[in-house]
This record gives sequence, structure tokens and C-alpha cells, in this order.
Amino acid sequence: MSNTELWQQAAGNIHWYEAPQTVLDSSNPPFYRWFPDGTTNACYNALDLHVEAGRGDQAALIFDSPVTDTRRQYSYAQLLDEVARFAGVLAGLGVEKGDRVIVYMPMVPEALIAMLSCARLGAVHSVVFGGFASNELAVRIDDASPKVIVSASCGVEPSRIVPYKPLLDAAIDLAQHKPSGCVILHRPMQDATLVAGRDLDWEEAMATAQPAPCVPVAANDPLYILYTSGTTGQPKGVVRDTGGSIVALKWTMKNIYNVDPGDVYWAASDVGWVVGHSYIVYGPLFNGSTTLMYEGKPVGTPDPGAFWRVISEYNVKVLFTAPTAFRAIKKEDPTGSYLQQYDLSCLDSLFLAGERCDPNTLEWAQDKLGVPVIDHWWQTETGWPICSNCLGIELLPIVPGSPARAVPGYDVQVLDENGEQVAAGEIGALVVKQPLPPGTFTTLWNAEDRFVSAYFSRYPGYYETGDAGYIDENGYIFVMARTDDVINVAGHRLSTGAMEEVLAEHPDVAECAVVGVADQMKGQLPLGLLVLNAGVDRPAEDIVAESIQHMRDKIGPVAAFKLCVVVERLPKTRSGKILRGTMRSIADGEPWKMPATIDDPVILEEITGALKTLGYAGQAD
Ligand code: COA
Ligand code: AMP
Repeated sequence: MSNTELWQQAAGNIHWYEAPQTVLDSSNPPFYRWFPDGTTNACYNALDLHVEAGRGDQAALIFDSPVTDTRRQYSYAQLLDEVARFAGVLAGLGVEKGDRVIVYMPMVPEALIAMLSCARLGAVHSVVFGGFASNELAVRIDDASPKVIVSASCGVEPSRIVPYKPLLDAAIDLAQHKPSGCVILHRPMQDATLVAGRDLDWEEAMATAQPAPCVPVAANDPLYILYTSGTTGQPKGVVRDTGGSIVALKWTMKNIYNVDPGDVYWAASDVGWVVGHSYIVYGPLFNGSTTLMYEGKPVGTPDPGAFWRVISEYNVKVLFTAPTAFRAIKKEDPTGSYLQQYDLSCLDSLFLAGERCDPNTLEWAQDKLGVPVIDHWWQTETGWPICSNCLGIELLPIVPGSPARAVPGYDVQVLDENGEQVAAGEIGALVVKQPLPPGTFTTLWNAEDRFVSAYFSRYPGYYETGDAGYIDENGYIFVMARTDDVINVAGHRLSTGAMEEVLAEHPDVAECAVVGVADQMKGQLPLGLLVLNAGVDRPAEDIVAESIQHMRDKIGPVAAFKLCVVVERLPKTRSGKILRGTMRSIADGEPWKMPATIDDPVILEEITGALKTLGYAGQAD
């Protein structure tokens, strides 16, 4: 079947107000447009359709929150009622088709309700992960210029309450753009002060809200903007369109995950990440399945058996999480003793993504769970897997270290520096031949030029994934490393470039570099090296402590920035390029070669000494 036939057929499985007559418009590459003349609505496909088809009493959403000791379920009919009424609240605040709404919320059902309510009105949501600080939120407010922001009084982390409302207020103060209204969910563990004339209380607003109907939108109208890390402090606003997202996500539920309507599907991620958008909110609901929202961690809430409890309690068929979650469980319960307490016979498969899956973790999970453990590779930009073992099509042999083969719709190739295809087994840039399939990003918000220059310029005719890897003689793809400044910390994608911008703001810092060093649990951790201005005579420890705090205040706790050291100089090439790759290799204790272009080789000895004081580059002295 050809690519267009595949997606034409998949498009037949969703609801359209006006079915598309054209499958793909290729007239303006790289701005390919799928189903350009169709009209649809994502909320209708997620909720109304199933209620009308008789699934109204089936569970649509299960909420389990060990950190607040709460359990709640919504049937499709109940969820539709909540969403239609919250859409009424937003409409009352003037939100119309095309308007942006920022959602800055913890993992509570109201986050999903807010997202679907936007989709119902044809408004464009932009969810900002709760672990980001005010400044990051302010950058997104200015870029997306939302009419309304939906937030909560707090998030609950195992160790502390995170007061979201003061963070939101500070962000609005910092931003140039001001929303005309905010809706705040009041959680019992934390009060929030409402700003008169701007803020509404969620409960109060819902008490009098009238349900709003679905607004038909063009297939290529944006469903959402999701910001992700690039090489600078200005995040990239990935735009996903409506029609392509519905078609592709619904197709993946059966073909990749082998999940049917009525099955319980659990993506243990956060609505602030792409995994949350595609597989906590939209995919399972487009499919008529039951989705699970979990406000907790794999360990410590209360123990490393938390995931097994949830799987057995709710009959979970498929679990999707990041390898780091399994490394955390394995570290606390290496023999898997907590598994003995639960009946996991309902579980068919485990899917892992977000970072490279080390074979040890994969094999441990396979051994303990006794089900296929599927590593699959994808990105915020693609919205769904590029490479995976597709369980609904055929279970291919599992090869640890590889997310298997390209998923139908993606033509993955490996190119060398000159854009030539390399032989099997040879490493190079992982690229995807255009067009990308439906449901992938259609542009970057407010940054069409950056969309073209960052992804489609280096290798004409191809999408540059930013990952390096190779394809073996069996067509198995191996994703090895990023080719840019992006690092992966506990499955969270972060920019070392953005972190350098924050460190450079310290008045005593002349120069700095951030590199991603290997970490057994989180995969990678950021490590900062600071060069101080001449004449600074304050203790280096003070400057390091201030820099760590500044990173937490500017980017947020999610940056997990705790490793930082002052050095005399940074190693550079003669043309002035900082040798970050060499420093990373030294820190990780990997073999490295003295770069031929280095200006002064002695600096690397100094760097090695400094890294040792942090416990890297071999043993601490
Ligand atoms: N709101 C506010 N703060 C948050 C937050 C949120 N939604 N999520 C995380 N944070 C904070 C944490 O409290 C922590 O703060 P701390 O420095 O005060 O301890 C910091 O951000 C780092 O969080 P995290 O990276 O989650 O580390 P952790 O040590 O709390 O937990 C894991 C480690 C591995 C258990 C956890 O990252 C995890 O479960 N990962 C699962 C994978 C995942 O969600 N991947 C997403 C893509 S699939
Ligand atoms: P994000 O956009 O946050 O989903 O992060 C995408 C990046 O995470 C990719 O470009 C990869 O670098 C990495 N990644 C995601 N899944 C995998 C995987 N299965 N194997 C290797 N790397 C992965």
C-alpha cells in the first residue's frame, strides 16, 4: 500500500464534518499538508463520537494520585459533560477558534479537561510543564500570546507542595503579553489569591457554566502548540494540526500499541510533555480506550511497587514510560520483590521512550514482567513514534539497544556529512525523507523560517531529526546520540545552550559551558563549568551555589542542575569553539583524542582535575 493510500484509509476511521477530497498537498515543501480540505474537531473525535456510539458509560479517564490519596473515574458521558461546560467557561471569557490558551497545571483531570475544552472551541492550547519556573512560562506567554491561562493553586511533588499560582503571577508580571483572564483550580492543600477582574475560580465558574458545542475546524488548523528545547534559550513552539493528529494517533493505538476500544492504556508521563499530549490525552480517547492519569512517581509514592499496584488495580493492558522510571524502580528493588504482591496478568506489553534505552534496563523489565518490552523512538516534533516494533501489525524479534524498524509512514535513512547515504552499520545523521506523515509538526509557532532552517535545510528533501545513529543490515535502527546541544535528563528534553545563557547572567561569570554527563539513573545530568571575571575575589563555592539557585529560579527544578565547578579556562579550538564534546568524554571517563585544533592542551588537564572534584573523570582525588 502506498503512503497516501495508507493515510487515506486511516482517515476513513475518524469523524469528519466534511471528508477530505485531497489526501496530501505537496505544493509547498517542506510545508506539506495532509487532508487540506477536510473539516473536523478533535474533541468531537475524543468524546462525543463515543458517547453517540453507546460508550457513554465506559470509563474514559481514571485518575490515581498517591501523593494526595485520591482516586477518581470519569465515564465518557461524564467527561463530555465536564469538557462541554469548561468550554462554556472559556467561551464566556471570550475564547474563540484560533485563540491561544496556556495550560499550566499539575497532573490532574482538570488539565485534560482544559485541553479538550480548547479543542472543542477550535482554540489552540499550549501546555507548559509544571516543573518550569516563571521565566520559562513568561517566554511561552509572550510567544503564544494566550487570551486565557488555566492553572491551579499547586502541584504536589512527593517532597513538597509546588505553589503554581505565585509562579503564574510572577510569569504574567515578567511577560509583555497579558492574558485577559485566568481560571484557577483550587486544590485543598494550598490556597491561591485571585486577582480581581482577571482570575476566576474553576469550581465557581463551572457551577454556572453552559455547555458549549464543538466548533468544526479545518484539518490544518492548529490543535496545539507545545514548546520544546532547541539550541538556544528561545524554545521551539511545535505546532500540530487537527486532522493529521486525529488520523495518525488513532491509527497508532491499534497498529503500534495493539490497544482496542475499552482497553486501559497508561502513559506514565506528564501532560506537559508530548507523550502526555499524544498518549495520556488524545490517542487513547480518539480510540475509545480508557486513559490513566497518575499523579505520582515510580518510586517513593510510597514504594517501588507503585506501578505494579496501578497496573493490577485498573487492569492496565499497555504501560508506556521512560527507561529512567524503570532504572529508578530497579535501583530500589533490584530483585523485583514488589512484583510478587500483584497480579499483572492483564499487562500485554511495556513501551519505553524518551531517551536511549540501555539493554540492561530492557532486559531487567523483560525478565521481571514477562511481556514484550518495546523500545520506540520519537520526538516532540513527530508526535508519535518514528521507529517501533508495531504490535498490532507484527511482533518483530526484540533487539536490545534498537527501537526496531521505521513505522509505516516514515522513510528513515542515515546520511553522512555530505548528505550521501551510508552503508548498513555506519553511523551518521538520522533523517526522514519528506513528506513526514500526518500528525507530525506542521511548522514552528511564529517561526516559519526557523522551521525550515532548523530541520529542512541541512539535507534537502529530508527532515533532520537531530539524532545520530545507524541502520543495520536487517533494517533495525539504532539511535545513539543527539547531534546538537539537547540533553535528556530523566526523559526530559533540555537545552544546554539555554542553561549556558542562564549561567552567563551571573555578574561574576565571564564564560561558561554546560555539558550533559552520564548518570546511572537519569541517563544524563547537566554539568556547568564557570570561568570567573578577572579580579573576582569571592569564594568560588558562593558563586557556584548562586548559579545553581539561579538555574532553579530561571529554568526550574526540572533542569536538575546540581553539578557546577569553577575552572581557570575553557578548552577551545584555535577558532574559539568550546570543546564541549571533549569535556563530556573526559567527564564520562570515555576514551578521547586530543583535538588537533586545540589552542592549549594543558587546559584539558586542569579540566580533568576540576571534574574529579565533582566525582567525574574517574575517581575524586
Ligand atoms: N512540577 C513541579 N516540579 C516538578 C514537576 C512538576 N510537575 N516534576 C518534577 N519536578 C521537580 C522535582 O520535584 C525535582 O525537584 P527537586 O530538585 O526539588 O527534587 C525536579 O523537578 C526534577 O524532577 P525529576 O526529573 O522528575 O526527578 P525526580 O528525582 O523527582 O524523579 C524519576 C526521578 C526518574 C523518578 C522521574 O523523573 C520519573 O518518574 N520519570 C518518568 C519519566 C517521565 O516522566 N518521562 C517524561 C517523558 S516519557
Ligand atoms: P522529546 O522531544 O522530549 O520527546 O525528546 C526527543 C529526543 O529524545 C529524541 O530526539 C532522542 O534524542 C531521544 N529519544 C526519544 N526516544 C528515544 C529512544 N527510544 N531511543 C533513543 N533516543 C530517544
